[in-house]
Amino acid sequence: MLVVQRLDGRIHDREGFDCGEPSLNRYLHALAAQHHRAGVATTHVLVEHETPSRILGYYTLAAAHLSLSELASADRHRLPRHPVPVARLARLAVAMSEQGHGLGEALLQDVVKRCLGLRAELGIHALLVDALHARAAAFYCRYGFRETAANAMTLYLPLGDGAQRAL
Ligand SMILES: CC(C)(COP(=O)(O)OP(=O)(O)OC[C@H]1O[C@@H](n2cnc3c(N)ncnc32)[C@H](O)[C@@H]1OP(=O)(O)O)[C@@H](O)C(=O)NCCC(=O)NCCS
Repeated sequence: MLVVQRLDGRIHDREGFDCGEPSLNRYLHALAAQHHRAGVATTHVLVEHETPSRILGYYTLAAAHLSLSELASADRHRLPRHPVPVARLARLAVAMSEQGHGLGEALLQDVVKRCLGLRAELGIHALLVDALHARAAAFYCRYGFRETAANAMTLYLPLGDGAQRAL
């Protein structure tokens, strides 16, 4: 059974993870636990319940904000003229050996569910992601993410009804 757990260096083998993107490997190996402790980002790993040391995929979340002008005009409706509170999907990666089997989608669903839960406690209007490259942007667009005004690689998913496509 697949489960998502909070990163724990005593259980999860960070060094063994390879998604094919050196920057995403390095982040998990060297920074994720440090950032988690410092309260600047949280990292969650996907593992098999029976073999939790082997990380199959991970994601990292942090609080952020987006200026109102970055949203499409239809998405600005009824929002105050302040920066919009969002959750940033700072990293998402699946181990190379596991790619193409639906784990990226499963992780993204977990992210959206977690953010919807957080949204009940704290204002979170949307989920934001900086896609590493055009292929990653294409992956997110499948689930309803939209381009921000300033950058076609910075995408957002409104967490109201818009989140349904990702679930
Ligand atoms: C991008 C990534 C997270 C996708 O995870 P995955 O487990 O391979 O993807 P899934 O198997 O869940 O695919 C879900 C759907 O998205 C599609 N998809 C997968 N990768 C895609 C891509 N790069 N572009 C467009 N569509 C993609 C799949 O075809 C699948 O659609 P289908 O069900 O109609 O076939 C993974 O390939 C990865 O970690 N890549 C290296 C790191 C990276 O680029 N991360 C993104 C950083 S912003």
